[in-house]
Amino acid sequence: MNREAILKKFEPNLSNILYIMHDLQDNNPEKYLAKEDIEACADYLNVPYSYVHSVASFYTMFSLKPRGRNIIRICESPPCHLMGADSLIDYLKGSLKVDIGGTTKDGMFTLELTSCLGVCGVAPAMMLNEEMFGNLTPEKVDSILDKRRKEI
Ligand code: FES
Repeated sequence: MNREAILKKFEPNLSNILYIMHDLQDNNPEKYLAKEDIEACADYLNVPYSYVHSVASFYTMFSLKPRGRNIIRICESPPCHLMGADSLIDYLKGSLKVDIGGTTKDGMFTLELTSCLGVCGVAPAMMLNEEMFGNLTPEKVDSILDKRRKEI
């Protein structure tokens, strides 16, 4: 879907800014808000570029740089931390050969951290794109990521 079509889905009200930004980001194959996306959103809502840019910078769910086709968000809040999120993060950094915020060489995954996902009962937890996973172990994470690789 092109930018114009995305914008037209919404009334040009400032209250729609997050929805518009989400859709623009999701529509970008590199899962980020490009300069052109921010410009288009700002023009459509009749606000300065810097306003949209500051919203994009404030919320961790938005990225201002290109990312992989799949976003892994590992929870690092205390309950997940206590249940071994740190070692899971280390495991993922090693197996994907990326640092936090990095993207795998094949462009398949970007590894990010997040605060509580609201599923502390199944800590440690992560999101893969919009899907939630809990009770994670390195083996379980491998199987989730392998499945995703085969789906693409
Ligand atoms: S602390 Fe990780 S899901 Fe709540």
